[in-house]
Amino acid sequence: MTDSSTTKQSSHPSGDNRFKLLDRAITKHHGRGDALIEVLHAAQEIFGFLENDLMIYIARALKRPLSQVYGVATFYHFFRLKPNGEHVFVLCMGTACYVKGATAIQDAVEGRCGTKFGKTTDDNKVSLISARCVGSCGLAPVAVLDDVVAGKLTTESAVGKVEAWIQSEQEVGV
Ligand code: FES
Repeated sequence: MTDSSTTKQSSHPSGDNRFKLLDRAITKHHGRGDALIEVLHAAQEIFGFLENDLMIYIARALKRPLSQVYGVATFYHFFRLKPNGEHVFVLCMGTACYVKGATAIQDAVEGRCGTKFGKTTDDNKVSLISARCVGSCGLAPVAVLDDVVAGKLTTESAVGKVEAWIQSEQEVGV
């Protein structure tokens, strides 16, 4: 009897060990109705973004058409198809943060950056990402700024942080 288990794909030609982690996620979620979304989530956590090679790998492993994988990855704004910019602003849009004004922060930061959450500025300096609860509800509204949790944000403090990133980059570049 042939076992068509997805774990058989564990040796990616690149030799990149991160594919072993991805294989575990594929095995864990395979067969579930939401397997594709869960596996794409896992892939993004492991690799940082979903490049074409990765989506091809996932399509083959889950036995789904590549068009479906690509369609899901492009439909949901929390999936990234390109690497992040130099700085990353992750704004929590979970319930507690939403109630405490995350939407106003979102608007202010988007206005300063000239781009929307889910995207990276044209100069590749700042990526804006929205997230579900990041686990610090007591500090709402919360953002994770270059991996550092910042709580009790205001529109001013949020825009100030982005401004500092942009200014420092400009000074370095002069
Ligand atoms: S809802 Fe934002 S940290 Fe929990």
